[in-house]
Amino acid sequence: MNYEPPAIYGIIGNPVERSLSPVMHNTAFKALKVNAVYKLFPLADAQDLKLFMEDLKEQDNPVFGLNVTVPYKEDVLPYLDSVDALADKIGAVNTIVIDHQRKLHGFNTDGPGFMSHLTELGFDFKGKRLAVLGAGGTARAIISVLCLLPEGPESIAVYNRTRGNADVLLEDLRQKIPVEKVRIVDEPEDLNIELADLLINTTNVGMKDSEALLIDAGALHKDMLVYDVIYNPQETKLLKEARARGARTSNGLGMLFFQGMLAFWHWSDVELDEEIKKIVRKSLGEASLRHGS
Ligand SMILES: NC(=O)c1ccc[n+]([C@@H]2O[C@H](COP(=O)([O-])OP(=O)(O)OC[C@H]3O[C@@H](n4cnc5c(N)ncnc54)[C@H](OP(=O)(O)O)[C@@H]3O)[C@@H](O)[C@H]2O)c1
Repeated sequence: MNYEPPAIYGIIGNPVERSLSPVMHNTAFKALKVNAVYKLFPLADAQDLKLFMEDLKEQDNPVFGLNVTVPYKEDVLPYLDSVDALADKIGAVNTIVIDHQRKLHGFNTDGPGFMSHLTELGFDFKGKRLAVLGAGGTARAIISVLCLLPEGPESIAVYNRTRGNADVLLEDLRQKIPVEKVRIVDEPEDLNIELADLLINTTNVGMKDSEALLIDAGALHKDMLVYDVIYNPQETKLLKEARARGARTSNGLGMLFFQGMLAFWHWSDVELDEEIKKIVRKSLGEASLRHGS
């Protein structure tokens, strides 16, 4: 019998157990009849990461592509042989391609994934007033692509629980990106959500139903879109409150899908056809329902 071992892809992070990426990519591999499998690689700490990344260089290592999640999106940078221009500007990598010479190439598909989903939702950023909750890795990717838009928003107000982290993010981005439109505020009220066209939650707040909102729900209004990067639960308290006030709402499942499809393209050079994308998106939706229950 002629047995070819499958090429391995996967996600590194801590934790990774609840990731929906295996469903998405394994569905795509299956639909394309590709001999590959996507696995979870939980890495406990920096030492685990170091060993894993060094091992990727070995000629017989079967791993050819990775996603990177919390807390390693910046920590992987020193191990890479190249980082593409956008990931370099963002300062974080969520996708790694390993070529046949075992060279490691880093990309960031979170920002473009967000942008593709907002485009699908028909949101035009030109001249709009944006409010952002959070200043972690996801905020870094989203704010970067927003600042790089040729016809971008009028303003981007950012509130983060730890003001210092937001200041560091802005100073980091300022080295490589025009950030004049970004304003860090001290209190959630200073976001002026009453006047915002788009509110984006990039924090973890909302993953547990018991968590209080970071903002006053009374400020949400019908002329805005409220976007939560969280997709589990499908409708966070923030989205519920926004919907109750007539706002348009979206969770982050579409962003997850688009960032994943872009990662897949980086690994394989294959642009999936619409039929396969539909199958992949359906599997993702079903898996998110299962995880949410
Ligand atoms: N839809 C998608 O495709 C997608 C992609 C990536 C991530 N995500 C989701 O995005 C979320 C954030 O991920 P990340 O990678 O940006 O994480 P991260 O880098 O750890 O950042 C977490 C952010 O949330 C804030 N935060 C955490 N707990 C808080 C609390 N109790 N009260 C107020 N603020 C709090 C942190 O503020 P401090 O600075 O004060 O700690 C920080 O701004 C996660 O839920 C993740 O699943 C979704």
